[in-house]
Amino acid sequence: MNKVLIAPSLLSGNFADMGSDVKNMSDIGADWIHIDVMDGVFVPNITFGFKMISDMRPLSKLFFDAHLMITQPIRYVERFAKAGADLVSFHIEAESDVDGALDKISSVGVKCGLAINPDTPVDTLIPYLGRLDLIVLMSVYPGFGGQKFIGGSLDRIARLKQLRDKYAPNALIETDGGVTTENASEIIAAGADVLVAGNAVFGATDRTAAVRSLRGRA
Ligand code: DX5
Ligand code: ZN
Repeated sequence: MNKVLIAPSLLSGNFADMGSDVKNMSDIGADWIHIDVMDGVFVPNITFGFKMISDMRPLSKLFFDAHLMITQPIRYVERFAKAGADLVSFHIEAESDVDGALDKISSVGVKCGLAINPDTPVDTLIPYLGRLDLIVLMSVYPGFGGQKFIGGSLDRIARLKQLRDKYAPNALIETDGGVTTENASEIIAAGADVLVAGNAVFGATDRTAAVRSLRGRA
């Protein structure tokens, strides 16, 4: 099994000093940086847009994992990709033309992700799995950091792993929301390859120790 990747979410960082948090991510042993873009319509919260990503890009060599929580993402996916994201994910619930949006992401040469909310059946992803580099399984209702992990998500991860192994063996499964140093090991055991961690990293007194513990190394 590949090693699990840890993707701290900047949503829990300091928005007035984001550059410092971005630079800090490689020092603490993070693998990816998870970047939550919210439009206040698809989710009840607003964060930031392309300029934040392009301004952060020179500050880190880490993989930029952009998670778009916006309506009709097809309008903007390409601009997020061009801004410096290494991977762009959007929500299956937010887009009527999923293939068209994936085409736009691919056309810029970055990796494609598709995110799915807790109430959407995992099998809805089947038609698109072969095109994906990342499947973002939401284990909280999107919009805010620091929420509690929805317990039923473990079964959803396990089902998604079955589907991934059958239809998209190269795609990674990312779990987003409520991941903690306490529940990380069961999430990994269920089949997650990438753990997003906002509060678990930014709320820790020792971020390096938190990242190590999330990976399963005390
Ligand atoms: C929620 C975001 C998550 C969030 C996770 O809508 O997509 O990435 O930042 O934060 P924690 O790990 O604190 O639940
Ligand atoms: Zn996210």
